[in-house]
Amino acid sequence: MMDGQKKIFDPTDDHISRAAEILKRGGLVAFPTETVYGLGANALDERAVGKIFEAKRRPCDNPLILHILCADEAPLYADVTPEALALMERFWPGPLTVVLRAMHNVPLAARGGLDTVALRAPANPVALALIRESGLPVAGPSANKSGRPSPTRATDVLNDIGDSVEMILDGGATRIGVESTVVDATEPRIAILRPGAVTREMLAEAGLAEITEPCPRSPDKSRRSPGTRYRHYAPSVELRLWEDGSPGVFGGESAWCYMGMKKPPEGALRTIIFATPEEYARGLFSAMRELERCGAKLIIADFPDAPGIGEAIRNRLSRAAGRQ
Ligand code: TXA
Ligand code: MG
Repeated sequence: MMDGQKKIFDPTDDHISRAAEILKRGGLVAFPTETVYGLGANALDERAVGKIFEAKRRPCDNPLILHILCADEAPLYADVTPEALALMERFWPGPLTVVLRAMHNVPLAARGGLDTVALRAPANPVALALIRESGLPVAGPSANKSGRPSPTRATDVLNDIGDSVEMILDGGATRIGVESTVVDATEPRIAILRPGAVTREMLAEAGLAEITEPCPRSPDKSRRSPGTRYRHYAPSVELRLWEDGSPGVFGGESAWCYMGMKKPPEGALRTIIFATPEEYARGLFSAMRELERCGAKLIIADFPDAPGIGEAIRNRLSRAAGRQ
């Protein structure tokens, strides 16, 4: 493998241009967004998209998000409903991914064989510059090995998939820390497939579309998120949830560590405390990566009852703990 440092680049104009060239010739580039780092490829190039699945060891029926500049570009790739357009205009650029009926120019590989496609305009200047410079829709799943916590720093990308990318654009630690909210907007009533920083409350308050519950057993594949079928976000040591404030989960283990907003009982090998739910979301995945290396056999994570971004935290923690 190349020296890791040679893969991580400051996002200067020159480096962004080089990254755009790599995308145009079918290569892979990792880039920062406001949520987590993405693993980018030309979404319209089936071979380039194939490299993403290979690099991540991602099941090929788990579709990718197409990163675009703005709502004006959405009709190039999807059948944009009035509700979806209103959501894009309200929340883009930002951490909202909108699933719509796909146009035929979007390769089946990028949409995991579905007749729908996921679109998002990220609120990050480096990501937007890369999309603009390349002139492409950039397919971008989170830049981690499938099943691992998502990367929130350039070094996380390097550790997980550094061998597979030509370049990692370093935008520093990501601002939000959990992946975008995914909504299915193929029908007038939208369904939240994955909670994120555009919260249920924000979507409801905006009043732009009625929200319905996704149906996991629906025969209509478009109303569920394929990603939710797989174990996800998991550190390499066991993660257990501290749910009701009772000390039960802390018993019996010789070496445990802790992350969360509540103060844990004495005895943690290492403790990471977050002051707010936003901080918890921002630090969630980097804390998992740090704690799995601290020598403890068990990570205990506070399961917060906060509204808003709390739903995204609970979703990621449940899945890291092997639930759902
Ligand atoms: O914040 C994010 O969304 C990050 C950054 C890089 O943009 N990307 C990201 O991508 O999290 P990924 O591939 O790790 O997660 C995409 C999620 C998966 O759960 C996938 O199943 C779902 O979106 N998805 C993609 N296309 C879909 C579709 N056509 N129908 C339903 N779900 C879809
Ligand atoms: Mg992911």
